[in-house]
Amino acid sequence: MKAVILVGGKGTRMRPLTCSIPKVVVPVLNRPLLEHTLRSLGRQGIGDIVLAVGYLPEVVQERIGDGSQLGIRITYVIEQEPLGTSGAVKNAQKYLDEPFFVFNGDMLTGIDLTAMMEAHRKVKPKVTMALIPVDNPTIYGVVETNKPGMITRFVEKPTWDQVTTNMINAGIYIVEPEVLRLIPAGVFSMFEHNVFPKLLEMGEPLLAYPSDAYWIDVGAPDKYLKANLDLLRQRPREIQREGVSEIHPEARIEPPVLIGDGCFISARAHIVGPVVLGQGCRVLEDAGLEGSVLWDGVDVWNNTVMKGCVIASQTVVEEDCRLEECVTGHHVVIGREVEEFGARIPPHSYVAPRGAKTPPPPPSSCPT
Ligand code: GTP
Repeated sequence: MKAVILVGGKGTRMRPLTCSIPKVVVPVLNRPLLEHTLRSLGRQGIGDIVLAVGYLPEVVQERIGDGSQLGIRITYVIEQEPLGTSGAVKNAQKYLDEPFFVFNGDMLTGIDLTAMMEAHRKVKPKVTMALIPVDNPTIYGVVETNKPGMITRFVEKPTWDQVTTNMINAGIYIVEPEVLRLIPAGVFSMFEHNVFPKLLEMGEPLLAYPSDAYWIDVGAPDKYLKANLDLLRQRPREIQREGVSEIHPEARIEPPVLIGDGCFISARAHIVGPVVLGQGCRVLEDAGLEGSVLWDGVDVWNNTVMKGCVIASQTVVEEDCRLEECVTGHHVVIGREVEEFGARIPPHSYVAPRGAKTPPPPPSSCPT
């Protein structure tokens, strides 16, 4: 089976984490987000993958490769300008000659794709769309269906009084190749706005495939943190070491915790899982971490405490800091001075590098 994965978005809601890397390669349990999806597709017999890339394509290619290590085949199709979800698939048309999957590249899910393809083959619609229930449908595309399970209406981001169902578009479709004829080449277009409503207007059958499997769209830092912690909670009793780390016998580590290669954890450091440490992190004496994700090379100095944080690579959090729900960019230094000036670091803030201690800036500055 074939799939096109959409990975060309700029990921603006994920900033500052996505200032120098695309959203689909942010580390989830120390592996690129997209790698989790690719492994799952491979396990389910979807081994021929087209990656529709646009933003920082060379970074995606470098981190993901040609798929041979995962037992799948990856073809890259690069957009010079963003073409939108359906424009990007049209751009890959020459690789698509049989019913194929389309995935948003920024989600993690356990939806049964083999069963979805079976349903598609049985009913023979033009498109089958996976639907997932959510608590708050007002921030998503809601999908109404009839008794036989066919789609009857799409409502984008409804207000609460417009909400008739909590089933939303999960960003996974099976598409018949003839649908591509409806999409103009080289022009920005979206499945959600331009293609699916048009198919409904034309009276074409669109099948719903509802599922209550795990599903999360990793669109913003809070969801990114949740995705990491959810996956780690599936291994509740584990302190998992990915390589050789130096952990002082007086450090207290409560699982689930994932420790990347080459970490250093000092005496009386207290780590309360779920916590992910990337490669080469240092957690010094009396520092405390809880419910947080640290990327590679993060330094947490003495007596600093952080909870619910995402700290991007090569960042230093100096001694005696208290951070809650803080998200930093790469190569940032956070120090007590911030507190001395009476400033507080709000959730999801970008803490700018300061002073002489600041390491070199990230390779490319955040695009506007
Ligand atoms: P935001 O800027 O935060 O909205 O993120 P985004 O640009 O990634 O957009 P969104 O989260 O809506 O995208 C959902 C999925 O579609 C992501 O995996 C994106 O990479 C992908 N995507 C969005 N727009 C395009 C596009 O124009 N081309 C391609 N190839 N993929 C896209």
